[in-house]
Amino acid sequence: MRYFSIESSQMRRMAQFLLALVLGLALLTWAASSVVRTTAQEWFERDVNSRARLALAGARPSLAAAWNGDPGALRAQIVALNRDERVMGVALCNADFTVRASTPGFPEAFGCWAVGSRVRGEDGWSSVATLPTGRASVNAVPVEELGFAVLVQDLSYIERRESQAQTILLVTFALLAALALGVPMFVARWVRSGRRAELRKVRMEMEEQPEDSSLQWNAERLKRTLNRHLHGEKIVILSNREPYLHVRKADGSIEVQHPASGLVTALEPVMRACSGTWVAHGAGSADRETVDRFDRVRVPPGEESYDIRRVWLTEEQEQGYYYGFSNEGLWPLCHVAHARPQFRAEDWRQYREVNQKFADAVCDEADSDDPVILVQDYHFALAPAMIRKRLPAATVIVFWHIPWPNAERLGICPWRDELLEGLLGSSILGFHTQLHCNNFFEAVDRYLETRIDREHHAVVRQGHRTLVRPYPISIEWPVRWAETGETAAESRARVFADLGLKPNALLGVGVDRLDYTKGIEERLEAVETLLERYPEFRGRFTFVQLAAPSRTKIERYRLLNESVEKLTERINARFGQDGYSPIVLLRAHHEPPDVFRYFRAADLCYVSSLHDGMNLVAKEFVAARGDLKGVLVLSEFTGAARELTEALIVNPYDMEAASEAMMVALTMPAEEQRDRMRSMRAVITQFNVYRWAGKMLEDAARLRSQERVASRLSARSLVG
Ligand code: G6P
Repeated sequence: MRYFSIESSQMRRMAQFLLALVLGLALLTWAASSVVRTTAQEWFERDVNSRARLALAGARPSLAAAWNGDPGALRAQIVALNRDERVMGVALCNADFTVRASTPGFPEAFGCWAVGSRVRGEDGWSSVATLPTGRASVNAVPVEELGFAVLVQDLSYIERRESQAQTILLVTFALLAALALGVPMFVARWVRSGRRAELRKVRMEMEEQPEDSSLQWNAERLKRTLNRHLHGEKIVILSNREPYLHVRKADGSIEVQHPASGLVTALEPVMRACSGTWVAHGAGSADRETVDRFDRVRVPPGEESYDIRRVWLTEEQEQGYYYGFSNEGLWPLCHVAHARPQFRAEDWRQYREVNQKFADAVCDEADSDDPVILVQDYHFALAPAMIRKRLPAATVIVFWHIPWPNAERLGICPWRDELLEGLLGSSILGFHTQLHCNNFFEAVDRYLETRIDREHHAVVRQGHRTLVRPYPISIEWPVRWAETGETAAESRARVFADLGLKPNALLGVGVDRLDYTKGIEERLEAVETLLERYPEFRGRFTFVQLAAPSRTKIERYRLLNESVEKLTERINARFGQDGYSPIVLLRAHHEPPDVFRYFRAADLCYVSSLHDGMNLVAKEFVAARGDLKGVLVLSEFTGAARELTEALIVNPYDMEAASEAMMVALTMPAEEQRDRMRSMRAVITQFNVYRWAGKMLEDAARLRSQERVASRLSARSLVG
């Protein structure tokens, strides 16, 4: 999955493979054993024949001597020849084919008349024939001019032995096949049940904790942490995207919008818990009309627990800093999604200028010399050092919400050193994963003069220390949008009615900004492959894609927009029929309550990012499913795939695997859906965004107290 972590389907595939292998081997064994049997039979018969002829040839002189003598002596000779238990009979025939003497029970089929005409020359005659008792060999040799001797031997024992040997071979093979099939299946089941048991244990441990347990992170605990460790310092957050946009509608009224941004999803609940000021770009069309004379507006509407301080940008600044360097340069640089980064000197100039502008706004908002400032994302790589310059004692916590590239890749940016230096102005630098931290260490090691303190996960540059740690981001828990009072069944009925779906239809959902890193084209192609490979879903399965237009001034995004539209049309033309469209593309901004309604209505949610730091849509889908129904199909290239291991993890480039995952999701028994959903919910309950922020603030508090002790000591030694 990673392994395609559809364990059941993986096991099914493994079982199919083993079964085919065993059947193939069985056929092969059967064919081989038949060949061996025929060959061995020929060898045995040849042996028996030559032994009979030897015996007859050896007896010939004494037979000739006794031929015309005492009949008793002649009988004694044939009795001697008949002694072997496999000899069925011996007969002596005169030259005129009359019987001279024979043993009782000599087979009539080989009587003197039947054999006589065939015995020619010294060598005589031999043959194998099938009698009612089984196969038998007959050997006849002349006895001088007197006549000939016939010896008949029973060969049926050869057949019996061979069929016994064949049975033993087949039984042995069957046993081996059972072992070959059974052992891996048993081990797989055992590992799976072990893992399930472990997850159950973790879940039970988590479920045993009361909601307000001191171990459970929530808004209250985060507030307490801030008060206890940071003496209730005012928090200042800096991000490009603001949590609430004021937008003027066509009818002239002003609407408050929640932007589609993982960063906002995560940080807004933190800010509500901590209060303080959020500095961001005022991008809404009615933003200027809604601020006070200090460019501040109190939010959330109706709750008013913190301030947004809006910073205004000129068109050139927005073009160079936001569209240019941030989203045509850094965004493709950090994501492995095959878009070429564009680096323009003018964009870089604007990026520096705008970083300074925001850093100044942040410092203006700080109400002490050592504020706690949370700088967010790739729009502000330079701001940490700029803030530190103005407020050297500030605790600057930076969180990079997207992946951090490896050193080679970062190396193509003409201003890579400046980016690294800017970030090293921070006290704590957080990434989603250890891999991204390692990439950062590697880059610093390669491009800057620094000391890397691997034991403490820190970089020391010009006497300043920056801790570099992984802090996997999450969502609030419980999510307020999930607590709407509308049941999952009601949401489903509403969405089905809106989309005109039949009651027995199956629904998949995707929710993203229209961004090329999200793998939307690959997702639609996977739906097409599903309908191709599993015709039973044609006319029944609909995939609804909620796509928020994003960064539309950038060419690459415009191209994506067109390509998604064309793909939708093509697939709908291919599989659509009588009012049925397999794909419904809803290209518009959707407010969180609508998004959560779609989440609750769906049978599956497919998150197919080609590369994603975390992806909070995956976590939101899980949060929406309080009914424990629905299946998450998740790209292995998201940070979320490391935590939500009970999702069906797929490689979004592999259409067959992705379509198979959707098939497995759509046919998954309710009990398995419940099990998986419960496990994932238990993980998010524990690892929620309050914990994410709390851990960073705790680390910041520890750092602050260490720095205070260090500065007291150095002051004392100076005095001393
Ligand atoms: C990603 C980035 C965020 C950004 C969001 C939406 O999640 O990490 O910083 O806010 O995309 O993009 P936008 O350009 O609309 O803010």
